[in-house]
Amino acid sequence: MKNTILLFAAIAGLFVSCVHQVATPENPGSGGNTDSTGNGGGSNNADSLVCFEGEILPIFVNSCAYAGCHDSKSKQEGYVLDNFQNITKRGIKPGDPGSSEIYRQIASGEMPPGGSLSSDQLNLISRWIKEGAKNTTNCNSCDSAVFDYKTAISAIMTTNCTGCHSGSNASGGIDLSTYTGLSTVALNGRLVGAVTQAPGFIAMPPGGMLSDCEVKQIEKWVAAGAINN
Ligand code: HEC
Repeated sequence: MKNTILLFAAIAGLFVSCVHQVATPENPGSGGNTDSTGNGGGSNNADSLVCFEGEILPIFVNSCAYAGCHDSKSKQEGYVLDNFQNITKRGIKPGDPGSSEIYRQIASGEMPPGGSLSSDQLNLISRWIKEGAKNTTNCNSCDSAVFDYKTAISAIMTTNCTGCHSGSNASGGIDLSTYTGLSTVALNGRLVGAVTQAPGFIAMPPGGMLSDCEVKQIEKWVAAGAINN
């Protein structure tokens, strides 16, 4: 009987991969990425405010709001992480990343289950919380005249796509974290089809649409041959 229960628990565990593994209250998010300087020490523009819409929301949609995890249907542990209201409803304490449960989970590497966020992403989220976790929008500094792979295009992928499209179990077998994987769908037309949400293609990213400027950058890069520049 006891064995049956254990076996059941083990099997159940296999299916709830999005649920937190083991809570580690003794390690409240001191993943080596937090800092005490007050401005986050992020790589880019520590002076300007973090933009929720352009910089923070895509991280949550890309890495957390999946089917089976924290999208509006799955709601693992009651968390829906797909828009500003839902993300800040609980688990974010404006001004204080260390007391924000969501931040503690990601800084300790507990979440997301598929792999930790990068230290740049953690710094951005930490700065955003310190700056008051505001719903800042329309602050995207995207420049559609810049569309090289190494800075512009790969950054769009990292922010919006690689949470699902990387590694051995990439969605649709499409790995967008490498030039090879991305150029394949760029040259066969599926990339532009998906991001312009053209008929006959699966609209990408699933959580919404890239900004007009980002779509233009991708279209221009593909039209110029999708080279590794
Ligand atoms: C939340 C997970 C998720 C995110 C984020 C995501 N995708 Fe996808 N993507 C999928 C899934 C699932 C499929 C469908 C796989 C299938 O059914 O074959 C897919 C399919 C695609 C396809 C093939 C579409 C077609 O019609 O052939 C392309 C191209 C693609 N994604 C590009 C992107 C790009 C570019 C981004 C970022 C702007 C992105 N995806 C973000 C999950 C995601």
